[in-house]
Amino acid sequence: MTMSTTPGGPQLPSASFGVPQTEPDPASGGPDEFEVPRYAPQWLQLREPADAAARAHDLLDPLRIRLANRPGRATGLVVHDLGCGTGSMGRWLAPRIDGAQHWVLHDRDPYLLHFATVGAPRAAADGSRVTVTTQRGDIGRLTPDALTGASLVTASALLDVLTAEEIDTLAAAVVGAGCPALLTLSVVGSVELTPGHPMDREIGDAFNAHQRRGDLLGPDAVEVAREVFERLGASVLTRPSPWRLGAGQSELTREWLRGWVGAAVEQRPDLEARADTYLRDRSAAAAAGELRVTVQHSDMLVLPRPTGGAG
Ligand SMILES: C[S@@+](CC[C@H](N)C(=O)[O-])C[C@H]1O[C@@H](n2cnc3c(N)ncnc32)[C@H](O)[C@@H]1O
Repeated sequence: MTMSTTPGGPQLPSASFGVPQTEPDPASGGPDEFEVPRYAPQWLQLREPADAAARAHDLLDPLRIRLANRPGRATGLVVHDLGCGTGSMGRWLAPRIDGAQHWVLHDRDPYLLHFATVGAPRAAADGSRVTVTTQRGDIGRLTPDALTGASLVTASALLDVLTAEEIDTLAAAVVGAGCPALLTLSVVGSVELTPGHPMDREIGDAFNAHQRRGDLLGPDAVEVAREVFERLGASVLTRPSPWRLGAGQSELTREWLRGWVGAAVEQRPDLEARADTYLRDRSAAAAAGELRVTVQHSDMLVLPRPTGGAG
């Protein structure tokens, strides 16, 4: 199986599940030790409608109540979106909450930050103004100071690509800021394909093992994050947020399949020959509108005890 390694190009579907191709960070000058995973903006854009349909809307009311009761509510909201990619979270959430908002979009990839700025949301639910700035940096180095004055922290499709250490850092910063966090669309390791195929399970297991490679948490991230936040005294609500892909999402399904199977083969090269046939058959079924896929995710709302400093 051939997986493209075009940096930032459209052929990086596996990036969706935290299985991105590894490319040198152009700003680093390219030495190996600075290589970071890159995510294709085309892939993030392709998945955006499915993400929007999957998000757990019933976490919004408890979030709105918390925001309405925050200290300093007379001033606008300051929202930090971590691992913003092309800014899909802001485009979804900003028009669903009231009041002037300033979004600080964080990512380590300046190329994606450019797309996030261009496509930034402009108006809140009540028509108030929404502004954005970007901040390039590594979540693993996020200090509690970076979130001082935050009203809300968000992240989407991020937790499962982090390590336990990075989740500790993120949780300490959120709880230190005393603001809520909406951490959405974390992969939880369960995928259902209809009709079934004898290789589904084998590919799924190899994919999950790939997600857990090195120190990455992959499908364990939600439970690890919940434990860390609760240990720090926060309340945590979780809701399922599955992708339900059918005939109307065949392009996304085929790209997802390429990434899912590609990661599985990267993890278990012995699968390659059979996986090639599997991918060809499954892609053809998706193109014909004959395959349905459910990819389970989880959305999490974290409500720390407010601190005096929360915005
Ligand atoms: C799967 S993408 C999700 C992007 C976006 N939130 C969305 O939902 O479309 C993960 C994003 O997190 C960023 N990212 C991953 N690890 C990071 C880290 N340690 N520090 C900063 N950004 C990171 C990647 O560059 C990428 O933009």
